[in-house]
Amino acid sequence: MLSKINVFKSKKNKSKIVCLTAYSKNIAKIIDKHTDLILVGDSLGSVLYNFKSTRSVTLDMMIKHSKSTRQGISNSLMIVDMPFNTYNNPTQALNNCKKIMKLTKCDGVKLEGGLKIIKTIKLLVKNKIPVMGHLGILPQSTKGKFKSKGKSTKEKKEIIRDSKLLEEAGVFSIVLECVEKKLAKEITNLISIPTIGIGSSNNCDGQVLVTDDILGLTDSKIKFVKKFTNLQHAINLGVKKFKNQVKLKKYPTKKYSY
Ligand code: KIV
Repeated sequence: MLSKINVFKSKKNKSKIVCLTAYSKNIAKIIDKHTDLILVGDSLGSVLYNFKSTRSVTLDMMIKHSKSTRQGISNSLMIVDMPFNTYNNPTQALNNCKKIMKLTKCDGVKLEGGLKIIKTIKLLVKNKIPVMGHLGILPQSTKGKFKSKGKSTKEKKEIIRDSKLLEEAGVFSIVLECVEKKLAKEITNLISIPTIGIGSSNNCDGQVLVTDDILGLTDSKIKFVKKFTNLQHAINLGVKKFKNQVKLKKYPTKKYSY
C-alpha cells in the first residue's frame, strides 16, 4: 500500500492538488472533505495574532495550533510550518522537527529555502521526516512588499537550481510562492514531485491559499487572493439575529431553557 505521502505525490499529472491552511479543529474539519493537504502555516502570525511578520511565530504556538487542527483532519495530509529560527542548523532542525512530529502527529513539515538549508533537509529526510519545500517569496526572510520572483535571469537560475536541489534532497513537494508564470511551468515540468502554487499561476500541479482569505474573513488585498465567499457577511447576519432576539426577549424560549 502507498504511504499517504506517496499517494499525494502520485497526484502529479493526474489531477490538480487542493491545499489550504487551517489553524484549529473546526475549520480543519470542514475543509478536510475537500483538500489533499492541510497546512498549519506560520501565516497564523499575521492572520490570528496581527504580527507584522511570520518571524514572531514560535514553536510553541505552532504546536498548540497543530494539536487543535489535528483533531479535525481525517483525510488530508497535515503539514506544519517550521517557524523562523527553529531550523538554523541541521541538529537544531532535527530536534525541533522530531518534537513537532511527535507532539502534533502531523505527516510532515515545511521549511523555507533552497541551497542554504540543503544539508538540513537531507538530515531530516535521512531521519524519515517528510519535508515540503518552499521557494520564491520566502515570508520568513522577505522584508517589505511582496513582488513576483523569477523575472531576472539571476533569480530564475537560482529558483531552478534550488528546485532541483530540493528534489534531489528528497522533499515530497515544493510550494512556489509568487513565482512568475513561465518559470512556474518550467519548474513543474522539470521536477517529478508536485509543485504547489500560491500566486504562481495555474501552471503548478496544485494550489494553496490561506483559508481565512478565501472565506472573506480577512481584508486581504494581495493580488492572488480570491474571495470565494463572504463569511464576514454571514457572521454579521447571524450575530445580528442573536442580538435582536436577546433584546426582544425572544431568545431563549422554553425550548432552549432548563
Ligand atoms: O504560512 C503559510 O500559510 C504558507 C502558505 C504557503 C500559504 O506558507
